[in-house]
Amino acid sequence: MASSSTPEHQQLAQAVNDGASAINAASTTEELRTVVSALTGKKGAISTIKSSLGKVSDVEMRKELGQLVNEALTSLQAIADSRSQQLRVGEFASVIESDRVDITEVAMSARATQRRGRLHLVTQATERLEDVFIGLGFQIAEGPEVETDFYNFEALNMPPSHPARSMWDTLFVESDEPGSVVLRTHTSPVQIRVMQDWPPPIYAIMPGRVFRKETPDATHMPVFHQIEGLVIDRGITFADLAGTIESFTKAFFGEGFTSRLRPSYFPFTEPSAEFDIRRPDGSWIELGGCGMVHPHVLRAGGLDPAEWSGFAFGFGIDRMAKERHGVNDLRDMYSDDVRFTEQFS
Ligand code: PHE
Repeated sequence: MASSSTPEHQQLAQAVNDGASAINAASTTEELRTVVSALTGKKGAISTIKSSLGKVSDVEMRKELGQLVNEALTSLQAIADSRSQQLRVGEFASVIESDRVDITEVAMSARATQRRGRLHLVTQATERLEDVFIGLGFQIAEGPEVETDFYNFEALNMPPSHPARSMWDTLFVESDEPGSVVLRTHTSPVQIRVMQDWPPPIYAIMPGRVFRKETPDATHMPVFHQIEGLVIDRGITFADLAGTIESFTKAFFGEGFTSRLRPSYFPFTEPSAEFDIRRPDGSWIELGGCGMVHPHVLRAGGLDPAEWSGFAFGFGIDRMAKERHGVNDLRDMYSDDVRFTEQFS
């Protein structure tokens, strides 16, 4: 720095030191601006030194000190610039922090966790059934809930006025031709649609909503759910049906469960059976109906009974969910009362 040390040299060095400390102590941009203008302003230490230079008699010395004053101002400005940069980064970060919207807040609160929704018991049962049958090699099909008389009855081997039609208390939909459009009473009409649409072999399940003219009580609802199964292939026998029901029973309910078939009657299967499931404690649950697909039904589905044979089964899903969760009254499952639904995970 200076070749010789005068009081002015010392004052200048001191002013730069003090200035640098003041600049670095400024904690906001606002404060920094005040500090810098005090240091470099007319009443600042450096200006005071500058105006006292006139008293220095040595011309060379005055020149040197003048240059040092300028250097001091430049270096204070550089220190101020870097401090300003630091402060701006910090202030920007805190603006971002204070403007942040915590979108996880609501989901994380204990109250929100308790109130998180779940699938309906029937939906849960349907999804488990689908998983089990997919595991057994079945595909899933669906059909319309509003059906024609043809699919719901006629194609299922029940021509008009067939007495078996009274097995299903039918809800009719108003139409130009009264009685020709119904709310499907079972999922069996989907069998016909699948046979018409899919080339055999067919291994399909058809879950869905069905409707019957019933007064709701603890074990009946006018709207409920069924799952239909249909297998069409070459050389399918009743033994395949019994084996499939048994495999399903063990896969769905557990190894301790077994199934049995009892002779029964359905117009669309011949022979027909009801199937029951035996719990490990020896008690029985009636589950649904099944049988070998009737040749008339194969023909209605566009298949030649000489080439193709198959079996079908169908059962209610709601009662299974009721059974599984120990629900006493089916109507509770449709009450939408959270005190009921919250009991099930
Ligand atoms: N659709 C019959 C019912 O609703 C059940 C069933 C399906 C029976 C398939 C035999 C074959 O009662």
